[in-house]
Order: sequence, then C-alpha cells, then structure tokens
Amino acid sequence: MMFPLNPPDAASIEALEKAWHRQDLNRYLTRWRTSKIPEVPLAFLNFDVRVCDIGCGIGKFIHSQGPIHPDWGFLGIDKGSVRAGKLQNRLTNLPCPNVFALHANAIPVLASLPPNLLDLLTIFYPNPWWPNKHRQKRWAFHPLLPHLVRLLKPGGMLLIASNEAFYLAEFLYAMTHHPSIEKVQVVYAGPIEETVGRTHFETKFLQQNVPCGELRFRKDP
Ligand SMILES: C[S@@+](CC[C@H](N)C(=O)[O-])C[C@H]1O[C@@H](n2cnc3c(N)ncnc32)[C@H](O)[C@@H]1O
Repeated sequence: MMFPLNPPDAASIEALEKAWHRQDLNRYLTRWRTSKIPEVPLAFLNFDVRVCDIGCGIGKFIHSQGPIHPDWGFLGIDKGSVRAGKLQNRLTNLPCPNVFALHANAIPVLASLPPNLLDLLTIFYPNPWWPNKHRQKRWAFHPLLPHLVRLLKPGGMLLIASNEAFYLAEFLYAMTHHPSIEKVQVVYAGPIEETVGRTHFETKFLQQNVPCGELRFRKDP
C-alpha cells in the first residue's frame, strides 16, 4: 500500500524551526514542579535490553512482545484514563514479569530518565493535533524530542508509525534537521510492512484499509 512522504511545506518548516529555536525543556517541565511524577519501575531498569512504548494505549504491543522476548524489559506509558485502565487490567489478568506499565504523562517521566537507557523507543499512532494552534504538541515540535534521542543507547532505535503522512513528514524533517539532534540515521521511511496490527490503532487501520507509514531511526553506535 502506498504512503506518500513528501517533505513538509515551507510554512511548516518555518514553524518547526521557530519552535526549536525558542524551546527550553527545563522551562517546559516547570508545569510539573508540584506534581508527583510516577517512578519507572526498578525491575524494568534492571533488564539489560529495554523497550519503551510511548502512548501505548491498551498495551497490545508490549503484551505481545513481552513473551516473545522474555529477556527484554518492556515499559508502556499512557496518560489516558480509559486506555490506561484497560492496560492495568491486562497486566493484572495476564501478568508477564518483563512487561511494565505506567499510567502517566510520558513527558515528565521520560525527562527524568538518564541518557543511553533504551534499546527501542516506539511511538505508535500519536495524536496528530491537527489544528495549527495545537501543533506545538506534535513530537516534531516538542522540546522533549532531542531528549528522546538522548535516551537511546548508541545503536538504539526509534520507531514511529502514523496514518498521517504530514505528521511523519514533519517528524522525519525534525529528526534530520533539528539543531540538537545528531548522530541519527534514517533506517526506514515508508509504508508499514505489517499485515497484523501491532497495536489497537494499527489493527483498526489495517481492517479499514487506511494507509499507514512508519519511520525508523538508529542512533549511531
Ligand atoms: C491514538 S492513541 C494510540 C494508542 C496506541 N499507541 C495504539 O497505536 O493503539 C494515542 C495515545 O497516546 C496517549 N498519549 C498522548 N500523549 C501522551 C503523553 N504525553 N504521555 C502518555 N500518553 C500519551 C493517549 O492517551 C492515547 O492513548
């Protein structure tokens, strides 16, 4: 199935570059200064190979991968109450010793983690935040993006999938042009190569024949 990945238009590029120029992660994080940030389970950090799924929804990906890779730790983070509730139910009903979940906003949680921690970071079908007034919430615009790359170990991978071509085009542009992101190679940029959905949203899109795309990046070893 085709999935167009054209570069962002000039107005989007200008908006991205303006956002990167003035962003300050520490200042952004002050909104959580009086909140209790959930801690990443120590048992997850004790695994040598660590995978984190941001916005994991009901946790289909971490639950399917956990038993296949019993020596790897999987952490899913989702802030939505309904999906995170289903996620917790799954964890209780089908416990898997290497699968962990946090019902939390991933931004302060991930910002609190040290660099070179993750082997794989996945973002499946992020909210596209279509209106321009909300675009600062897209990952390509977000002050956390360079830190997401820092969280990868050398040789670690970042995977993002979306049904929104514009979203992936912006993300690709950010990963290859952001002044604070370096040492990242594009490994794949194109249509998803899946027939069975890895996540709840991907399953739905495959069933409805909605074209979806994927980007994969590797941090230089
Ligand atoms: C469109 S859903 C996709 C869910 C899942 N990845 C899938 O593919 O089925 C986007 C999810 O991201 C979660 N999310 C968005 N921003 C988040 C954040 N900052 N921290 C944690 N979860 C977030 C939402 O709660 C929602 O469950």
